[in-house]
Amino acid sequence: MESQRLLDSQEQASAADPRDARVEARNDDSAGAAARPELELLAVDKTFQTRQGSTEALSDINLSVDRGEFISLLGRSGCGKTTLLRILAGLIAPTEGEVRVGDRSLWHGANRDSEALSKFGLVFQDPNLFPWFSIEDNIALPLKLRGVAKKARRARAEELCDLLGLSGFERSYPRELSGGMRQRAAIARALSYDPRILLMDEPFGALDAMTRDKMNLELQSISITTGATVVFVTHSITEAVFLADRVVLLSPRPGRIRSVVPVTFERPRALESESDSSFQEVVRTLRHELDEEGV
Ligand SMILES: Nc1ncnc2c1ncn2[C@@H]1O[C@H](COP(=O)(O)OP(=O)(O)OP(=O)(O)O)[C@@H](O)[C@H]1O
Ligand SMILES: [Mg+2]
Repeated sequence: MESQRLLDSQEQASAADPRDARVEARNDDSAGAAARPELELLAVDKTFQTRQGSTEALSDINLSVDRGEFISLLGRSGCGKTTLLRILAGLIAPTEGEVRVGDRSLWHGANRDSEALSKFGLVFQDPNLFPWFSIEDNIALPLKLRGVAKKARRARAEELCDLLGLSGFERSYPRELSGGMRQRAAIARALSYDPRILLMDEPFGALDAMTRDKMNLELQSISITTGATVVFVTHSITEAVFLADRVVLLSPRPGRIRSVVPVTFERPRALESESDSSFQEVVRTLRHELDEEGV
């Protein structure tokens, strides 16, 4: 029930989104034209300057992500996955190239486009909860920062606790939760303001295999329920394939897109599907490519 309410509120939120009106208007202008991708990286390079010299972290990255699409980003350590995600999130600027969010450029000179930024929810490997706030207050913090009234914040936090299996822990403190529960709280916090785009950097990297499986199932159902666009960084080939519509494989030094592998299995996917021969075939293809990179 609660999930349905969340779904309804998401639908209302997206129906009210002015961007939809713009997309419709454009489609009316040019009948049959496809809607713009939700996210685009166009000829993106990133070079870090340090005292030791310069590191070319990313080179000529071109990537379009459609609305509601789930992209897994896979590659060996140091190949630029986090850098790519931080560039998508507007946390760092590309050295060259353009980042587009829908029909808006993310950067205008040295300034970021606040409307584009408001579409992002970010989840990192460490849940980064405030230890002195309850789970409910942690989840609702982005809403507080946006000036949402206390009653509405509480209602939204309760909805999200229900969606993420944290009901009954609203008043608990982070230290009273397991690692998997804390990570779910971090996802709930990212979802609190209905982001259209979820950017996740190895969010389940620190979890044991069974908890990770459970979190993968939950993330799959969240992405189906909310229709959010997701870019998900992982080191696990199986996790990447299980979740993704497309797996983007990066090769290192400098980070480039080596290949993009579509994953067409129907959703929702069951964990058992990981042992199917067709699933294993995709995993083998990706492992072979990673091996060629020397991993
Ligand atoms: N702030 C920074 N300053 C200087 N160099 C950086 C910075 N951030 C990343 N780099 C360099 O950019 C390259 C890519 O790093 P990045 O963190 O994006 O890799 P990654 O694929 O996320 O690795 P991992 O899988 O280990 O998390 C590395 O060579 C790293 O040293
Ligand atoms: Mg990283």
